[in-house]
Amino acid sequence: MSEAKRPDAPQNTSPLLEARGVYKSFKTLHSELKVLQGMDVQVQKGEMLGIVGASGVGKSTLLHILGGVDRPDAGKILFEGNDIFQQKKGYLEKFRNTNVGFVFQMFNLLSDFTALENTMFPALIRGDNKKIAREKAESLLTEMGLKERLHHKPSELSGGETQRVALARGLINQPKLTLADEPTGNLDAKAGGAFMELIRKLNKEKNQTFIIVTHSQKLASSLDRVLQLTDGKLGPLDKNSTL
Ligand SMILES: Nc1ncnc2c1ncn2[C@@H]1O[C@H](COP(=O)(O)OP(=O)(O)O)[C@@H](O)[C@H]1O
Ligand SMILES: [Mg+2]
Repeated sequence: MSEAKRPDAPQNTSPLLEARGVYKSFKTLHSELKVLQGMDVQVQKGEMLGIVGASGVGKSTLLHILGGVDRPDAGKILFEGNDIFQQKKGYLEKFRNTNVGFVFQMFNLLSDFTALENTMFPALIRGDNKKIAREKAESLLTEMGLKERLHHKPSELSGGETQRVALARGLINQPKLTLADEPTGNLDAKAGGAFMELIRKLNKEKNQTFIIVTHSQKLASSLDRVLQLTDGKLGPLDKNSTL
């Protein structure tokens, strides 16, 4: 656990990602649902952070805001020291394409395209040529145990296979920051284990940073640090609560 050494960590290295005083509410017809209420977090480069919390507490909302796909009502998200919501028009889209890998339920695979094509898209959008994108996609899908499924469309894949394609797609650009929302939720022990091995390898070899929402005790315990979202804020893990 890196938590213990954090207070003494040198202060001259700024975090890769920092959230400061983030608030987010959803207004419904008759009421306002307060989800994030002054949430703060600092994530260092190369860290693997787990986030746990009860269903409906705001974990997905938090990831969307950290990745610049949704805006906070108040507060800042700093990436490498820059406030991502205070930049020029077009910045956020570029920021997301360049720096962030998303493994989210809301970004479903495109149904008319194969597993291989779906995985290649973020690389093509970033500007890789087709041959390189294809090689990278094949290699990642093979590592995820999908060598025999490259040309299947989403409707021809099982739930767990679909999720593994989504993982490969989120990882293909080797983003500095990967945000994953319950990435092993639909996977059996073997596929879940392959995912954990893959992200640990990317973390070690490429110093990639991961923030992972998970209910899996096993996945959480393999990460460097785990925080719990409670009452709209991130804090230390309550050891008595179940993930
Ligand atoms: N766009 C939205 N409009 C209204 N309510 C929302 C919206 N998105 C999420 N919520 C509500 O906000 C709360 C937090 O949602 P979410 O972040 O998805 O929780 P979690 O991922 O922890 O289960 C839930 O009660 C959810 O119903
Ligand atoms: Mg969620």
